[in-house]
Amino acid sequence: MSTLDAFKNTLSTLSSEIEARLAGLQEPGQLEQFRVEYLGRKGKLTELMKQLGSLDAADRGEAGRLVNELKQRATRAVDEGEEAAAAARIERRLESEAVDMSLPGVSFGNGRLHPLTLVQHEIESIFMRMGFDVATGPEIETDYYNFEALNIPADHPARADWDTFYITDDTLLRPHTSPVQIRTMEKTKPPVRIICPGRCYRRDAQDATHSPVFHQVELLWIEAGLTLANLKYVLEVFIEEFFGEGYEMLFSGDFFPFTEPSVQVHMRAPEAEKWLEIMGAGEVDPAVLEAVGYDPEAVSGFAFGLGLERMAMLKYGIPDIRAFLANDLRFLKQFPQTS
Ligand code: FA5
Repeated sequence: MSTLDAFKNTLSTLSSEIEARLAGLQEPGQLEQFRVEYLGRKGKLTELMKQLGSLDAADRGEAGRLVNELKQRATRAVDEGEEAAAAARIERRLESEAVDMSLPGVSFGNGRLHPLTLVQHEIESIFMRMGFDVATGPEIETDYYNFEALNIPADHPARADWDTFYITDDTLLRPHTSPVQIRTMEKTKPPVRIICPGRCYRRDAQDATHSPVFHQVELLWIEAGLTLANLKYVLEVFIEEFFGEGYEMLFSGDFFPFTEPSVQVHMRAPEAEKWLEIMGAGEVDPAVLEAVGYDPEAVSGFAFGLGLERMAMLKYGIPDIRAFLANDLRFLKQFPQTS
């Protein structure tokens, strides 16, 4: 037999062997073993290709073509096997991680706004409709804005009413929102029409109507020709919008160093026995207007500081202010989510 015939015989045996092996290949591990055994550096096909060199030059072309065909067939089979194995892996994973989209989801429920936030939003919206802007100021306030500029010098007895938590000798947790009046007027020329909702702090003992942390809504309107009658009208419009009908309002004299005259306002819910103080108010003292560079001969105005918790208590019939801070869901879930 010529050397070419011998080569072809070996090739044919190898080809049958390869076909038989390929037919039985299943596991990815077997595929790798096959690749090493036939196509690897010392693989049977590689070894056969090395023998090409020992053939006659005239036979090499045909022999090379035949062995290459077999090599390509084997390589393609390995590639296809690997692809099929990868696809099967993905299929298995999709199956094991499948999510049944038709099952009902886990509901976490939406959060709710706190009743005090609801009341604050409602008050803001009523006054914004009347043409007031919403201003803000810092909760850590300076002695100057909290007292001096509001006509309460260091030795004034009124300081005792707002004795509060000091951070340093000169800075304190604000006991009322009135300092925002000064901060706003310093930045604005009259007319000024603002409300300022915010948190306040006092050394008040806790009871059904007092909390050491509470909220006020300050209001300030400065313009030419305003009097206490305008304050009363604004309040009446506001109270009717906020509560509806049947709530009574009682004005009585009071004293604040930054208003002259000064009043306090009590309210009573329909059929309730007790009156509840809701605010201090008054016509802005000329000394305060002068302190911010306004001319008290040219402009006047009024201000009030309204207790937010007290308004919510009256509106919803809540007898104890501590309910707002107790975080009892049975209480918090009762309020209509209007904003
Ligand atoms: C003041 O704080 C003045 N700054 C109000 C003011 C503003 C007067 C502008 C004139 C012009 P008073 O201390 O009375 O005033 O507090 C006002 C309201 O805040 C009270 O009527 C009450 O509704 C509420 N309030 C005061 N202290 C507490 C507290 N410890 N807990 C809950 N609400 C309170």
